[in-house]
Amino acid sequence: MFNKKTGFMMMLLLAFSIVLAACGSEDSSSGTEGDKGYSKLLVGTEATFAPFESMNDKGEIIGIDVDVMNAIGAEIEAEVEFKNVGWEPVFQQVTNKELDLGASGITITDERKQTYDFTNPYYEATLMIVVKEDSPIATLAEIEDKKIAVQINTTGHEAAKKLQGVGSSKILAYENQPIAFQEVINGTAAAAIGDNAVVLEYLKNNPKSGLKAIESSEFEKEYYGFMVKKGNKELLDLLNEGLQKIKDNGKLEEITGQKID
Ligand code: ARG
Repeated sequence: MFNKKTGFMMMLLLAFSIVLAACGSEDSSSGTEGDKGYSKLLVGTEATFAPFESMNDKGEIIGIDVDVMNAIGAEIEAEVEFKNVGWEPVFQQVTNKELDLGASGITITDERKQTYDFTNPYYEATLMIVVKEDSPIATLAEIEDKKIAVQINTTGHEAAKKLQGVGSSKILAYENQPIAFQEVINGTAAAAIGDNAVVLEYLKNNPKSGLKAIESSEFEKEYYGFMVKKGNKELLDLLNEGLQKIKDNGKLEEITGQKID
């Protein structure tokens, strides 16, 4: 059975698998660290969040976050590639280094700061309540005992928990904000809580939705930042450097329509 020929074949196989293993161990993440640190950045997002990120007819990811990241990329000489991975995967994939960073209208929160590092803020936001146009609801307090639709693990979700208690069965958490708004249209939920610019963009793009937005002074100001794995100081510094440049030269304000320090 064990003749010279099989022995040779086995050697060949072994050699081949060594070559394969060597290829496999190559870093598959995009964080191609050139002499400047990062020459290409793989950026994760959830692209149903216009005007920050959405898909156009050609299947490209477009929006404020894309424009801001491209402007930063130009400053720090890094190529920027966006990937629409979904909201919760953004966090998981930044943690396990499948992504270099998350750019997804992510609010900088103390809780998230325990696990991630954030750039300086690039956008100021706040939450809004969404109800049917003919709804009598006018304040946050009035939805304390009503069904509220939110995007899961967002600041809107947190606001609903704060209002109704963490374990409330009346909080309906969905994968993205447009679904949450749709549930108000359907009547499944009495209200939704979402990010102001996104709510207003949705109402603008869906003039027949029959929905309206309500402001509440009880929602605090939020700041969006770009999110890297905790401890990735090299990338964080680089992003902040690029961000500072586009703050200084007016490019950021041109993109977002907002001035921020
Ligand atoms: N700003 C909110 C948060 O950070 C919602 C962000 C949702 N972003 C998205 N692309 N779906 O919790």
